[in-house]
Amino acid sequence: MTAEGQDMDKAEAYRQLAEEIASVIEGETSTTARYATAACLMSLAFKPRFFWTGFYLVDPLKPGELVVGPYQGTLGCLRIPFGKGVCGHVAATREAIIVPDVHEFPGHIACDSASNSEIVLPVFTPQGDLAGVLDVDSTDYDAFDEIDQAGLTEICSLLLRV
Ligand code: SME
Repeated sequence: MTAEGQDMDKAEAYRQLAEEIASVIEGETSTTARYATAACLMSLAFKPRFFWTGFYLVDPLKPGELVVGPYQGTLGCLRIPFGKGVCGHVAATREAIIVPDVHEFPGHIACDSASNSEIVLPVFTPQGDLAGVLDVDSTDYDAFDEIDQAGLTEICSLLLRV
């Protein structure tokens, strides 16, 4: 299969995944249930490329700090200050980032040394406030591209829209 064909498949896989997540979480008012469902379905859809898939959420009691939310994968660190590591960088800038080699990222937090690349995206409330970040890690180097970013951005936009 051509690289273009694979990309079409991946874009289509994201389209179906977004539809599935939207239908399972429809009407669910618990944000924990919505995040947990999305983490589970994303992780399953792209196993084994998605080695760690989950959320770090803004702690309402400690603004400026992320606390781990629902995830699938090996043990994640519990708290990340804004500005620290990849997740903290995205919380501070509110812009998604693809890191092809985490060992090159200044201040990267190695929760699991098996992780070699990652993508992190901001999650916003419908009012436009930062709710947290979606963090996906891979044991492969350079595992994520703009199709992942587009697909995951779409999924993030569903999460807090009840
Ligand atoms: N990769 C993150 C830390 C969280 S874990 O990898 C689960 C970072 O540097 O922000």
